[in-house]
Amino acid sequence: MTTVTLNNGVEIPELGFGTAAIGEWQQDNGYVTETILKAMSIGYRHFDTASVYGNERALGRAIKDSGLPRQELFITSKVWDTEQGKETAAAFARSLERLELDYLDLYLVHWPVPAYTRETWQAMEKLYEEKKVRALGLSNFRKSDIEQIATFAEVKPTCNQIELHPYLTQKEMVEYCKFHKIAVACWSPLGSGSWSGVETKDKPITDPVIVELAEKHGVSAGQIILKWNIQQHRIVIPKAESLDHIRANFLLTGFELSEEDIAAIDSLNRDHRFGADPDTAHDSNKQVQVPE
Ligand SMILES: NC(=O)c1ccc[n+]([C@@H]2O[C@H](COP(=O)([O-])OP(=O)(O)OC[C@H]3O[C@@H](n4cnc5c(N)ncnc54)[C@H](OP(=O)(O)O)[C@@H]3O)[C@@H](O)[C@H]2O)c1
Repeated sequence: MTTVTLNNGVEIPELGFGTAAIGEWQQDNGYVTETILKAMSIGYRHFDTASVYGNERALGRAIKDSGLPRQELFITSKVWDTEQGKETAAAFARSLERLELDYLDLYLVHWPVPAYTRETWQAMEKLYEEKKVRALGLSNFRKSDIEQIATFAEVKPTCNQIELHPYLTQKEMVEYCKFHKIAVACWSPLGSGSWSGVETKDKPITDPVIVELAEKHGVSAGQIILKWNIQQHRIVIPKAESLDHIRANFLLTGFELSEEDIAAIDSLNRDHRFGADPDTAHDSNKQVQVPE
């Protein structure tokens, strides 16, 4: 599996498996474990979760049941808004406990909360020094948030996980991260899961330009979008429950997009978010509790 080398030397598989709302939002049962095991059997080794997804236990059970050596897996989790600041170390410990792991590969600040960023990041730096996590990163951070962290960080963020798909190409943020050697990971790469309530007809996966490229390359629309990211060295974490989708998203070799194809996808940008906007997300995030 191809990897991206993070700025601290850690290798992250370019393709990961998104786990938000497998089944339903915060569902944490055997169905979630089975879905993750299916992904593992197809070859996925990188899994993206978060305390607020409420399914770390199901992922932990899948890791155990799979029998895969821990070092073959790459596990990411995130600290939620209500856990930031002085709660961060305890939140991390709870994530580890639910996952039944003794270390994480990547720990992210889920959303920027500038008033807490310094305390949160410093707690994360301590976890990093204690080797409880192999890499630290950000999610949904704006340029101003990254500038803030640069004023005190002793451990540089390795990546920024942001909403990125053909309708929200985030060109400026991608350039900014590239310049600062911060890897970009794309959430909702296919235009979001069931949690968003967005209809399939409104997602880039059904855009005529994408569908035409899929026909041209003899692959599916999802594969075109994922390849568009991977060819530009962006990490992608598509979520899928159907076996066909899980399998298709893993098959990204054997075709190559041309520069023209990439430019055609880039031109679909309409700065459209399916998820929350970092400018306003914290007000609603703080109402959302992390389940035990
Ligand atoms: N950091 C953050 O703030 C943040 C926010 C949102 C998400 N995320 C992460 O990003 C991951 C991915 O985002 P997401 O879950 O919103 O959605 P997504 O990966 O963009 O799309 C998932 C949806 O696309 C469908 N799908 C998957 N593969 C397909 C294919 N090959 N062809 C057609 N349809 C396909 C899935 O259907 P089925 O499930 O029915 O197969 C599901 O409805 C999340 O699971 C989570 O890990 C992070």
